[in-house]
Amino acid sequence: MRKKIVAGNWKMNTTLQEGIALANDLKNALAGKTPKCDVVVCTPYISVAAVAETVKGSVIGVGAEDCSANEKGAFTGEVSASMVASTGAKYCILGHSERRQYHGEDNALLIKKLNLALANGLTPIFCVGEVKEEREANTFKSVIEGQMAAVYTLSAADFAKVVIAYEPVWAIGTGLTATSAQAQEVHASIRASIAAKYDKATAENTSILYGGSCKGSNAPELFAQPDIDGGLIGGAALKAADFMQIIEAWK
Ligand code: 13P
Repeated sequence: MRKKIVAGNWKMNTTLQEGIALANDLKNALAGKTPKCDVVVCTPYISVAAVAETVKGSVIGVGAEDCSANEKGAFTGEVSASMVASTGAKYCILGHSERRQYHGEDNALLIKKLNLALANGLTPIFCVGEVKEEREANTFKSVIEGQMAAVYTLSAADFAKVVIAYEPVWAIGTGLTATSAQAQEVHASIRASIAAKYDKATAENTSILYGGSCKGSNAPELFAQPDIDGGLIGGAALKAADFMQIIEAWK
């Protein structure tokens, strides 16, 4: 059975001290509870190690928001997958639309990152999603299929370790959530595409998260859809109480 996951993406919003405080708040909010989903926080590089230390022994998994496409060496400013893994982090967001948009990340680069993340035991949370113009032109399914081509270079065994996140770019940080029907349509088409590329069992076992203005008020309806296995949360992951509402949308 595929996992249900609620993952936070803090983006570039927390200092080291704020990140540790947020991790502590979340750990305390979850103490004594048994969430019905896996809980993950993906933090800026500078706080990954401290957050991993802070939440040690809790149900919270930790990840980075990216990793380098290079293994090691003279790449000033870069952080490798092995460095991320050395903190105790278990996840790594890859292919977020903000990386694609502002850093020109394409499939060739993302294939390198995927392989390095996997080689270092990290679970990639691989993001796909169309921009507003592609939604309006009704080309979104082929756009997403084109982005999925990067993960489709993986063996079935490696693909089985990847989490997919569908994040329509027009819904990120805009307050414009995809309707649950719009999200479900895309999630079902991604699952069908995985089944065609690998097989039905692989598709059924893949967790596909929704991201884009997901919050406590809309999470229950989104998570009630048959092909939505959780969320990748930006703004609403920055306060423990808001994030808890989304975690608790899984009853
Ligand atoms: P928001 O939840 O702020 O819309 O961000 C979604 C996102 O990009 C998560 O990766």
